[in-house]
Amino acid sequence: LHLEGKYLELGTKEVNGILMTKLISDNWDQIWSFQAKPDDLLIASYPKAGTTWTQEIVDMIQQDGDELKCQRNTTYERHPFIEWEMPPPLKSGLDLAKEMPSPRTLKTHLPVQLLPPSFWKENCKIIYMARNAKDVLVSYYHFSRMTKTMPEPGTWEEYIESFKTGKVLWGSWYDHVKGWWDQKDQHRILYLFYEDMKEDPKREIRKILKFLEKEVTEEVLDKIVYHTSFQVMKHNPMANYTTLPSSIMDHSISPFMRKGIPGDWKNHFTVAQSEAFDKDYREKMAGSTLTFRTEI
Ligand code: A3P
Repeated sequence: LHLEGKYLELGTKEVNGILMTKLISDNWDQIWSFQAKPDDLLIASYPKAGTTWTQEIVDMIQQDGDELKCQRNTTYERHPFIEWEMPPPLKSGLDLAKEMPSPRTLKTHLPVQLLPPSFWKENCKIIYMARNAKDVLVSYYHFSRMTKTMPEPGTWEEYIESFKTGKVLWGSWYDHVKGWWDQKDQHRILYLFYEDMKEDPKREIRKILKFLEKEVTEEVLDKIVYHTSFQVMKHNPMANYTTLPSSIMDHSISPFMRKGIPGDWKNHFTVAQSEAFDKDYREKMAGSTLTFRTEI
């Protein structure tokens, strides 16, 4: 397999108005007809909302706080990313999911209207992780610079516009967070916030435990908090994506585990950019009961 340079630049193509990679678009029929099973657990999020963090917490819960068991494999092999398609011979998320014995924990970034309908039919449990727009934008900008599988972000100024108009992979952040929010009471969805998790991880992990109908001792809970902290995950090769070749992710441009804090947007937006962003934000989020904290 030739993985040099920009080989993995996957191109983009819309699915029902949502920007996706070309491979995802071309395989859309198969992704849409994915067969979920009743005991599947799905971790859903907009990119850069804290997906990997949630995955590690969930795995630590499922392994009763045994961090060595969680190191059995990388994040992306432990939890198939259902819509993700790579050029052969690399495996697609669908292949990995089909090979996995139940009970499976799966990952998706799909907006709610594009979730394969079998997840609703089977009444699967879903954990949705949401993060404030400005920090997601900053994180997505840096991630787009370092991963070779996504379009180049352009300049910071250009990227703000792409984000606002939803011309980024997986579409509009605004529609994504609102779409899942509007479905949360009709289905088994636990809707969580990155900022809450950062503020009080124990409290939020307890919510996940309850949702998963699991109990752990106080000692195990402390272990989960410790091993899923940013500092520990940053140095865990099974959780920090450093096992991928630099032709897929180049951590020397920007590490996957970059800062891991709420409020880093203040180091990126000028006052004028922030004001313009907030004005547009209010228009796009008008009428929704969903609110975010941009710092803690
Ligand atoms: P930053 O780029 O702001 O640092 P995702 O997993 O959805 O792609 O999200 C990645 C973002 O989550 C990155 O944000 C990353 O640093 C952050 N992150 C990953 N693990 C974390 C943890 N244990 N605690 C806090 N943030 C974490």
